[in-house]
Amino acid sequence: MPRIKIHGMIDPHTHLRDLDWSHKATFESETKAAIAGGYWAVFDMPNTAPSTIDDARLTDKLARINMSAHCDWGLYFGASQTDNSAEYERIAARVCGLKMYNNSTTGDLFIDSSAMRERHYRAWTTNRLIAVHAEGETVANIIDLVRKYRQPTHFLHISSEFEINLLTEAKQDGLPITIGVCPHHLFLTEEDLPALGGYGRMKPELKRKTDQRALWRAIRQGVVDIIESDHAPHTRAEKEAEAPAFGAPGLETTLPLIMQAVKDSRLPLQRACDMLSLNVQRIWRITPLPKTYTVVDTDLSTIIEGRNLLTKCGWSPFEGMRVCGKVIEVWIRGHQVYDGENVLSAPGFGRNLFGFVA
Ligand code: DOR
Ligand code: ZN
Repeated sequence: MPRIKIHGMIDPHTHLRDLDWSHKATFESETKAAIAGGYWAVFDMPNTAPSTIDDARLTDKLARINMSAHCDWGLYFGASQTDNSAEYERIAARVCGLKMYNNSTTGDLFIDSSAMRERHYRAWTTNRLIAVHAEGETVANIIDLVRKYRQPTHFLHISSEFEINLLTEAKQDGLPITIGVCPHHLFLTEEDLPALGGYGRMKPELKRKTDQRALWRAIRQGVVDIIESDHAPHTRAEKEAEAPAFGAPGLETTLPLIMQAVKDSRLPLQRACDMLSLNVQRIWRITPLPKTYTVVDTDLSTIIEGRNLLTKCGWSPFEGMRVCGKVIEVWIRGHQVYDGENVLSAPGFGRNLFGFVA
């Protein structure tokens, strides 16, 4: 049976919810889902309720996730519209980076003024990166800031040919830029929307086939650095509402979807593994831990079914898709935390990969 070992899988783009949104998902439920998906660690976004935009809220969130997480983790701090950069010195050593929302999405973190974006770029001088939500023309605006301030910047969930072209050029100019793409943009398009309804609504929205082809091309050319899930659970009721919430879960479906793509010769196996582990470690400057790996059976074929997932929301936009690549074991710091069926680690086992909690 062809089994492979991936060392230190990390998803640097997840929305674990909890706090006032624990009806959607909790640190406990989603870190279990992460382990079942093969991950060692997940980084949580700051658009929670309340948003992670000051020292007190960060400290509270750190304490709560520290008690609950089954896998290792990191937290982002959020750049706010009402300039919270005075907090940066106090919080920088405890977070995986600064998240800046430059287009509107779930939550109330949205910076639409170029002047405010620049204030954050000027103020964030630590060696941790800035991760940006930027769509369309906004990508060009952020590239200008990277050119001026040279702060390492990760462009999250890049989804269109236009954006890929801008970023390819910026990378060729030698700017400290990295790119992440998400499975929903690689495996679904706007043509799936009639069948998916609200379940297919996300930010950035599903795009055209030509955009999807550009993403795959950029993966093959090595322009895309990582695959990130943008795991964003919402309840079924929230997705079936007249104005559906944006986002979809992805922690348990990313690895099998990518392994299926390897099987279909859409990318080489080594590139797939690097985009889920090594490249993430390099970008976030994480030293891989010994005895921390995932064993995958690359031949076992399964069908994605929401009811089999551990994510609290219990549905998937990839429902019914046949994929291959089943997670057989996960080990973290020498402890087996998954046996292919059950999560074996206790809540609170997970550690912050970025400094201490207190
Ligand atoms: O679809 C999305 N959902 N995109 C985002 O940027 C945020 C996320 C969420 O938090 O629901
Ligand atoms: Zn996101």
